[in-house]
Amino acid sequence: MKKTALVTGASSGIGEATATRLAMAGYKVYGTSRRAAKVGQRSFELLSLDVTSDESVEAAVNEVLRLEGRIDLLVNNAGFGIAAGAAEESSMEQARSIFETNFFGIVRMTRAVVPHMRRQRAGRIINIGSVLGFLPMPYAALYAATKHAVEGYSESLDHELRTRGIRVSVVEPAYTKTQFGANFVQPDAKLDEYREIRASLGRTLTEVMAAADEPGVVADVVLEAASAARPKLRYTAGARAGRLRLLRRFAPAGLIDTGIRKDLLLSVGKRRNPNLAWKWNPNSSATRSAIGKKRTS
Ligand SMILES: NC(=O)c1ccc[n+]([C@@H]2O[C@H](COP(=O)([O-])OP(=O)(O)OC[C@H]3O[C@@H](n4cnc5c(N)ncnc54)[C@H](OP(=O)(O)O)[C@@H]3O)[C@@H](O)[C@H]2O)c1
Repeated sequence: MKKTALVTGASSGIGEATATRLAMAGYKVYGTSRRAAKVGQRSFELLSLDVTSDESVEAAVNEVLRLEGRIDLLVNNAGFGIAAGAAEESSMEQARSIFETNFFGIVRMTRAVVPHMRRQRAGRIINIGSVLGFLPMPYAALYAATKHAVEGYSESLDHELRTRGIRVSVVEPAYTKTQFGANFVQPDAKLDEYREIRASLGRTLTEVMAAADEPGVVADVVLEAASAARPKLRYTAGARAGRLRLLRRFAPAGLIDTGIRKDLLLSVGKRRNPNLAWKWNPNSSATRSAIGKKRTS
């Protein structure tokens, strides 16, 4: 019997690559989009879904259950970012709005699907997090906060559900070449104080995203997590994300703190170098020796 997968945000990027990959691997896949009717032909079914709406979530989940009778895998992927800006440059409304999609969207989907998985006594939930779920990102504070929330929720949920046959994993990509940057919403309370750094980080982000991993890298990791007999809680996706996870785990906090500030030139008045965080060289001899010391201590 084919397993049924439901993948949110499958109209582009990581969600589309994941839905395609799962379909190729033999899953019966239902992807979702807020504008399903306008999205062209795909190798999987596309349902209408807005993860910020209780009614929309209920309708999409009920539709899959009506058609297939079960949901074996839920991939919570739908999400968006806010263009580079200081934390105080987003209104409370904007702060709530990014949580509404990136975090409460996952909570809503989980609440709708878990009762069915419990009845089946089997199921997998894979949440698309980010390296910014375990690292800070100045000038993307709200986005990083949503991804940190995803980590805490997923780890707790996995403890609750594992004896009921359901496992939860988080997949943590670094920069990935998708429509993510093009879909950024602008900070809605901009201040002159941050004009320069906003512009320069915006340019750098565009460059870094253009040279980033393809979304298929993340899709392969989702499939790996979905198929594992004993899934891990966390999977990094791509070489850069793997290096950053190692750094977070083994490097002293001070080294990471300094690396981020140096990289973004946050300690100097003017930015001279447009290199963005995570270009910071995790393979430098200083970093390696710091990691080595921590590992052996
Ligand atoms: N790209 C990166 O560098 C990167 C790195 C780490 C993590 N991520 C995470 O990966 C996930 C996918 O992002 P992506 O890079 O593939 O970006 P993307 O190409 O912009 O795709 C985002 C998807 O989310 C959907 N979406 C957005 N808001 C939604 C809502 N309220 N309800 C339902 N669907 C919604 C969009 O669908 P419609 O607009 O068609 O509704 C779209 O399919 C996000 O969670 C993102 O945070 C991305």
